[in-house]
Amino acid sequence: MDDNQERQDFDLTESDEQLSADEKTLLDELGIVGAARRKFLEQNMAAALGTFAFHLLAKEEVFATLAASPDAVFASTAGVENAVKVLLKINGSTQRLEVDSRTVLLDALRERLGLTGTKKGCDQGQCGACTVIVDGRRVLSCLTLAASCEGKEVTTIEGLADADNLHPMQAAFIKHDGFQCGYCTPGQICSAVALLQEAKNGDVSHVTNNLRTSPQNLELSDEEIRERMSGNICRCGAYPGIVAAIKEVHSGRETAQTRHFASDEEIAIAFNEGKADEIV
Ligand code: FES
Ligand code: FES
Repeated sequence: MDDNQERQDFDLTESDEQLSADEKTLLDELGIVGAARRKFLEQNMAAALGTFAFHLLAKEEVFATLAASPDAVFASTAGVENAVKVLLKINGSTQRLEVDSRTVLLDALRERLGLTGTKKGCDQGQCGACTVIVDGRRVLSCLTLAASCEGKEVTTIEGLADADNLHPMQAAFIKHDGFQCGYCTPGQICSAVALLQEAKNGDVSHVTNNLRTSPQNLELSDEEIRERMSGNICRCGAYPGIVAAIKEVHSGRETAQTRHFASDEEIAIAFNEGKADEIV
């Protein structure tokens, strides 16, 4: 054995001493031995290798678990990582989905079921555009895992109308001009519909005066409505119309529209009188 070979073996022994038994076994199993191992260890600081080996071992354990699982075939379905089967009741119909366990309800609705009425705004729980109703409660679908909705009733904006008849909240939003671009509107309406039920249940809010008694069928003031809808942002600033619409449906009392679209006759008169700027 020449000096050079002796030095290589010495280096290899020294580096190997820094490895755990598992790490040595793993490198042996991967066929990284002899000079190849020395070169490998030279390129990877022992500390970093520890982490690397740990991850490899962890992965091997996961694969071993999957192979032994009766659901292994299902879990390795092509194109879907970490697949889980979910049964959802969406707008009255049962849907069976196989989704990545990390899939949020919003993406499952939009990308798997084509229910694009629910909108993705911030995708981090701050705008409310993705609001849907799950088992009667409003939730942010961008922060809700689809898998956590197993067996639950999900209602989206597409499920509110009864055939050709709009839900009263939808009709009120139109009547009171509760939207402009409409992007936030599905979330606003779902939120508003669930809000009515919260008032019926006597759920209190941050601005409810008497927290000791929470009577059912709470009468909601404008302030209450604004507070309870504060999680739904409207960049067009359609808030006055939104509050008016919710108030009308909540109270059951028709309130007058504060604005309307001008008729052809009104437009003609306004032009003749030089008041075209006043037309809404
Ligand atoms: S998209 Fe969910 S809160 Fe904004
Ligand atoms: S109507 Fe445009 S964001 Fe609300």
